Amino acid sequence: MATKDLSKAKNLLEIRDLKKYFQVGKGQTLKAVDGITFSIKKGETVGLVGESGCGKTTAGRTLIRLYEATGGEVIFDGMNVHKLDKKGLKDFTRRAQMIYQDPYASLNPRMTVGDIIAEGLDIHGLYKDNKERMKKVYDILQIVGLNKEHANRFPHEFSGGQRQRVGVARALVLEPDFIVCDEPISALDVSIQAQVVNLLEDLQKEMGLTYLFIAHDLSMVKHISDRIAVMYLGSMMELTSSNALYEEPLHPYTKALLSAIPIPDPEIERTREREILKGDVPSPINTPPGCKFQNRCKYATDICRKEAPVLKEVKPEHYVACHLVK
Ligand SMILES: Nc1ncnc2c1ncn2[C@@H]1O[C@H](COP(=O)(O)OP(=O)(O)O)[C@@H](O)[C@H]1O
Ligand SMILES: [Mg+2]
Repeated sequence: MATKDLSKAKNLLEIRDLKKYFQVGKGQTLKAVDGITFSIKKGETVGLVGESGCGKTTAGRTLIRLYEATGGEVIFDGMNVHKLDKKGLKDFTRRAQMIYQDPYASLNPRMTVGDIIAEGLDIHGLYKDNKERMKKVYDILQIVGLNKEHANRFPHEFSGGQRQRVGVARALVLEPDFIVCDEPISALDVSIQAQVVNLLEDLQKEMGLTYLFIAHDLSMVKHISDRIAVMYLGSMMELTSSNALYEEPLHPYTKALLSAIPIPDPEIERTREREILKGDVPSPINTPPGCKFQNRCKYATDICRKEAPVLKEVKPEHYVACHLVK
């Protein structure tokens, strides 16, 4: 569990009622992100968790303006991200980076690792000559646990874990403040997942980085996150410290996600009570009124079918969107 003292840290990001809708055939609107509000402190790691299709990637991409927002705003270090002028946007695209889920698909197979890493340096003109360009590439390779010789090789010559290190190097070489880590370990062997998480944690400490760490499974974010946000069908269901979320989950959806994590002790595993999540996430097109989780929630009552619950602070620093949690 992350144990940083962030009590005096300022917000690096403030996300207010952020929305991203997609127009999909027949005039239908798909509400991938449907009004989320939260903040991320400087130096903090916020985990963003939810089943596949809940809108995590869309949220991450909209946050750093890889997508235009349909509504709401993102304030980054005092700047309104979706209103930046050309110059402001260029600076922002250097300061806010993304590490992608699939280290196989996200690296151009025809480029050397050195050129992949240097691409951002080229775009932003962050060196005076080729010598400095290559020095930056070699230095960053070393920092992520690779070496100079790797710069001339192509992505297919690397293992999954090494490719993800290249993905980390590509983001880091621009000296960003904030990185959206979009399921950076989901595609990796379990045996190397911890190595990549440890690398990200070390880099955060050394460089004062701020992360949004996306995962579909709560077991993956526990270790790295200071706080965790649980998302379902485009909405934020629960947000609190990593400790509180594991020890005292309040939203039925969070409880169900936690139930899905196996407990290593077979005796406890056999006898514990489980909240099983049945069925898949429904379509985010034409969602019925009320709570988005209603059709999978065994506690749903009339009000849950009529009114959408808002995210409210039910205990200090513990936010939940559920009519049944008072
Ligand atoms: N470019 C797009 N156009 C249309 N629909 C999209 C697009 N990107 C994502 N979606 C839809 O938005 C929803 C959320 O997707 P995504 O953000 O990828 O979820 P997650 O990362 O949690 O798996 C899904 O229903 C997905 O099909
Ligand atoms: Mg995703």
